[in-house]
Amino acid sequence: MPTKSSKQNGGGGSSSSNSSKNIDRNSQNIGNKILQRKANRCVKPMREMIPMSAADIDDQDIAAVVEVLRSGRLSLGPKIEAFEEAISNYVGVRHAVAVSSGTAALHLIVRALGLGPGDEVLVPSFTFAASVNVLLYEGITPVFCDIEDTTYNLDPARMEKCITPKTKAVMAVDVFGHPVDWEAVTHIAAKHQLRVIDDSCEALGAEYDGRKVGQFGDAAAFAFYANKQITTGEGGILVTNDSEIARITRSLRNQGRGEMGSWLEHERLGFNYRMDEMSAALGLSQLRRIETFLAKRQHVADLYSQRLASVPGVRTPLVNPRVRMSWFVYVITLDQELDRDDVVETLKKRDIPLRCYFSPIHLQGYILGRNNCRIGELPVTESIARRTLALPFHNRLTASEVDEVVEALHEAVESLHAKT
Ligand SMILES: Cc1ncc(COP(=O)(O)O)c(C=O)c1O
Repeated sequence: MPTKSSKQNGGGGSSSSNSSKNIDRNSQNIGNKILQRKANRCVKPMREMIPMSAADIDDQDIAAVVEVLRSGRLSLGPKIEAFEEAISNYVGVRHAVAVSSGTAALHLIVRALGLGPGDEVLVPSFTFAASVNVLLYEGITPVFCDIEDTTYNLDPARMEKCITPKTKAVMAVDVFGHPVDWEAVTHIAAKHQLRVIDDSCEALGAEYDGRKVGQFGDAAAFAFYANKQITTGEGGILVTNDSEIARITRSLRNQGRGEMGSWLEHERLGFNYRMDEMSAALGLSQLRRIETFLAKRQHVADLYSQRLASVPGVRTPLVNPRVRMSWFVYVITLDQELDRDDVVETLKKRDIPLRCYFSPIHLQGYILGRNNCRIGELPVTESIARRTLALPFHNRLTASEVDEVVEALHEAVESLHAKT
């Protein structure tokens, strides 16, 4: 049996004198130090990889979700109603209908507007696939319209050329949190009697002429995936001033049930697009801090724009003075002669992630070959989409992390310039 002291010394010691115990302890300390030094030499100093995005979750958010879990009311409860009221107040619209994703919100708007086969809807190709997919779900023909070379949003100057007698609506997207030119878009839509859908999934809190996005058009959708300005994990919400759209979409998200009917009475063909109570509680808690979040994101965007000003061949985002950005991502545009893949690879070697936002939808395999879905149809979209890069971006990105990204980018770009 090992004695207590031999156990403490790591076992194996048989000496009983004090001096031999001290020698044992000393030699063990020296051994530990050598091992430590070896370990220090073998293990490269690690730094946390800079994440592409990160949700800003605090103890209040956690407590809000836990409170729902403890309450036992996990769906169709008071948190949904409170979240809807808070969003409609924040955006400045009459109704909000919370759903399971931004895609679901857009889909329900399209359904509620009664759009269907034979109808054409104008939409940008420089967007996330969901803006287009919700049209395809309903047999609608998406008509891709090119974008502005500055904001990367739908170009009002090109819209009218895309309008035909079959055009019924426009799906305008506030890309990367930059509002569309709403004055021009709504003017053209009114002239041609088009319904207006605002895909504002990336732009909660953004403003155009001092008015929040979500107030323009017939209805708008916001999304709350974990990389968005506020998150519910998964989730989305549609907002509208039209009580009929609100009434129909409330029914559609809940399997087509009516307001008064029983659980197994269905007034129309619906979906299960409901948001759950935990998500709504998280959204409500997050929404309380949205102005802080937007300010933090503005700060990170400003840091990037200042630091990148001296990097050759890189264009920083252009912001129309009429708008207040709600920064979703920070996207730079490389000069034509720079090879984007090369830049991505070089930064990857330094553990810095980048994303090639967006890959045009009209050139995706599942859609290529339909009406105007051919290479060369949308020259601005195609040129921009080849050159854009989203940098790591979230509320807690530090100035030294921004410096690290910019320094790596600078080196990558200069080495490419040197090669050309
Ligand atoms: C422009 C745009 N539209 C729609 C969506 C769809 O939102 P969700 O992923 O919540 O379905 C997104 C999501 O990122 C988006 O960026």
